[in-house]
Amino acid sequence: CALSGPASGARGQLSPGSGGDRGCNSMTLEAIRYSRGSLQILDQLLLPQQSHYEAVGSVRQAWEAIRAMKVRGAPAIALVGCLSLAVELQAGAGGPGLAALVAFVRDALSFLVTARPTAVNMARAARDLADLAAQEAEREGATEEAVRERYSPCSLTPTRVPSASGPLHTPFLQTRVIRWTEDMLAKDLRDNRSIGDLGAHHLLERAAPQGGKVIVLTHCNTGALATAGYGTALGVIRSLHSLGRLECAFCTETRPYNQGARLTAFEFVYEQIPATLIADSMAAAAMAHYGVSAVVVGADRVVANGDTANKVGTYQLAIAAKHHGIPFYVAAPSSSCDLHLKTGQEIIIEERPGQELTHVNGVRIAAPGIGVWNPAFDVTPHDLITGGIITELGVFAPAELRAALGATVTLDGP
Ligand code: MRU
Repeated sequence: CALSGPASGARGQLSPGSGGDRGCNSMTLEAIRYSRGSLQILDQLLLPQQSHYEAVGSVRQAWEAIRAMKVRGAPAIALVGCLSLAVELQAGAGGPGLAALVAFVRDALSFLVTARPTAVNMARAARDLADLAAQEAEREGATEEAVRERYSPCSLTPTRVPSASGPLHTPFLQTRVIRWTEDMLAKDLRDNRSIGDLGAHHLLERAAPQGGKVIVLTHCNTGALATAGYGTALGVIRSLHSLGRLECAFCTETRPYNQGARLTAFEFVYEQIPATLIADSMAAAAMAHYGVSAVVVGADRVVANGDTANKVGTYQLAIAAKHHGIPFYVAAPSSSCDLHLKTGQEIIIEERPGQELTHVNGVRIAAPGIGVWNPAFDVTPHDLITGGIITELGVFAPAELRAALGATVTLDGP
């Protein structure tokens, strides 16, 4: 939105800019295009200049795309990882034989987890899916007839003729794994819509109980590009906009990788959501001068006490929000919660190449010879998450999270 700058010391006025007020494009941004046997990702390194989809035909290709950040964002990393396995299985990989297939699935998933360590979604999906495969394999004693009886008549027909040497029911296990990963895609979209709606209503009750519009600040990219669609924190902003209650969103540039300037700004413009880009260093000033109603960010891992790892820079936003008395929300699906870790100190923080900081578009901007520290994430202590943790199951205070999710964060799968 177009901002009329504040008189010195005064709060600035926001007015809708060329983004318009509530218009929406009929086309939806898709980070991931999948149909059985085929996976494509939108190469986010090329955005916003180019929109180019790249085929991902194997687990190794997915690992490389995730590592290179062609696809990023905790839910999208897990989705692309698991769907790449589904594509390989559909093409006949794994086996011959049930034990070999289970080992193939387990090894592929363990490999995918190594691409980026902080976001828990891939690790959780890997654990759940490997367990599912192992449980299915335990039924190895079942006869071919029993297996056929269990699965037919339905779409779960074998995807290839079993080899004479391998157990006859191997293709059923493959199909089970494929369907599990496909369900992940649909569940993520569903969860994001719930997060958006629950979060929007909670935020409005807290920040604008008398009615009127709100100004929301967000960090990094948590939108359609980071998920199966709709987004988490950006989904909350999307829902506020749909309700006609969003005055404007601020998105931070998100140095050094610029997910805010390149991706979130792109999504806001694309969806015609009124928004303003600021450098990370301007967030506290924006809070002071423009009356930010709430800060909403995503998460890569929320642990049992509510401490949250998210894109580096989140922690300082939470501190600034607390100083200004602004509610600070984390929006994340329960699949981003890791109740196995007690506090944020246990979270492994990915460190990325120094070149991301010293160079912009391949051009060196930092003085040669300078040392660089480039953590991709930081941990926001739970006591700074003053608005709540918005999940698809409800909005919880950090202290309530464990009890609220304890029963649901299991090995059930999507
Ligand atoms: O390094 P990135 O771009 O993968 O970091 C993304 C974030 O930190 C997001 O906030 C988080 O993954 C949630 S995306 C819904």
